[in-house]
Amino acid sequence: MTTIRLPGLVDAHVHLREPGYEHKEDFYSGTAAALAGGVVTVLDMPNTVPPTGTPELLADKAQRAAGKAVCDVGLFVGATTSYLDAYLPVAERACGLKIYVSDTFGSLRIESLSLMQRFFRSWAERAEGIGFRTRGAAAGLGPIAVHAEELMLPVCLALSKLYDVPLHVVHVTRRSEIELIRAAKERGWPVTCEATPHHLLLSSEDAARLGPLGDMRPRLASPDDVAALWENLETIDLFATDHAPHTLAEKGITAQATQPPPGVPGVETMLPLLLTAVHAGRLTLDDVIERCAHAPRRIYGLPEPPESYVEVDVDAVYRLEDGQMKTRCGWTPFAGQEVWGRVTRVVLRGQEVYAGGEVTALPGTGRVLFHPEQAR
Ligand code: DOR
Ligand code: ZN
Repeated sequence: MTTIRLPGLVDAHVHLREPGYEHKEDFYSGTAAALAGGVVTVLDMPNTVPPTGTPELLADKAQRAAGKAVCDVGLFVGATTSYLDAYLPVAERACGLKIYVSDTFGSLRIESLSLMQRFFRSWAERAEGIGFRTRGAAAGLGPIAVHAEELMLPVCLALSKLYDVPLHVVHVTRRSEIELIRAAKERGWPVTCEATPHHLLLSSEDAARLGPLGDMRPRLASPDDVAALWENLETIDLFATDHAPHTLAEKGITAQATQPPPGVPGVETMLPLLLTAVHAGRLTLDDVIERCAHAPRRIYGLPEPPESYVEVDVDAVYRLEDGQMKTRCGWTPFAGQEVWGRVTRVVLRGQEVYAGGEVTALPGTGRVLFHPEQAR
């Protein structure tokens, strides 16, 4: 057994489903799954019910997370057509603003240019005087994170450039998209991006085999698109999972479902999948540490918890199985896949929080980032 020590990882894109969909996941089950994957900080998305669109709803979410989380949690606010930019007075208490421009699960969608203009302009104005954490400041606002596929991507790139707001493009999948982002970066535009393990390791050729368990937004892309992600690894700032749990019944596996919701879980399988890619010589360990720890902390201005690390037995070889998963949904699209590397122990702020396959931390051990009053 060879044990290596890694910094505590960050998953900058998870859906912990609270409030509204606690039967899929909640702040305890989702952060327990994170620890099992060596992740000590997650950034939670706003497409809950109700969506995180007002100061009150953000405060409510922070309180829920503070009571249950076993790892640290940052919370996005979301752009909605109902609350508009009501979140602005508490913008610095969010890790960033999420805008859904393309089709996804739930009702959040922004489809007009005038609204997009409003969200970018008001975020830029709110940052006046306090700046962006993204640019190295300790305070200030986070970036605008967008789910923007196809023709919506250049719209977001242009708005970010015009209003000088840092843009983070979530789950990039297509050759055209990664090439456009590379071109924007080469010109010094303020853009960063992420890719998910499932979009890097699966393609449209796996979709029939996986059925609803391989359906997510963006959809699994063509083998050429997947190849383009690997060719442009230097343009991919970070890896994040888009951990999007739905139950097997909702997916139509254990019950009839007419319209299974898109999304797959991933927070606890990211590290072993990436370490398996390291084992295969497709990535270096430094590529993984940079994209799963350093880059997300830099891009979102996240504090690094002191005395925190992850121990991994890099010689362990095993199969990922649904029954091992700590996510409440209890499955993984990678079931049956052989992987290298097992998380054996996680220490957060000097406290052992996960060991021997079990969470040892009490609910509430995790902190809510940018909410100092919730820290104990
Ligand atoms: O497939 C997806 N599911 N893509 C997303 O962007 C969000 C999501 C969800 O919340 O289930
Ligand atoms: Zn998502």
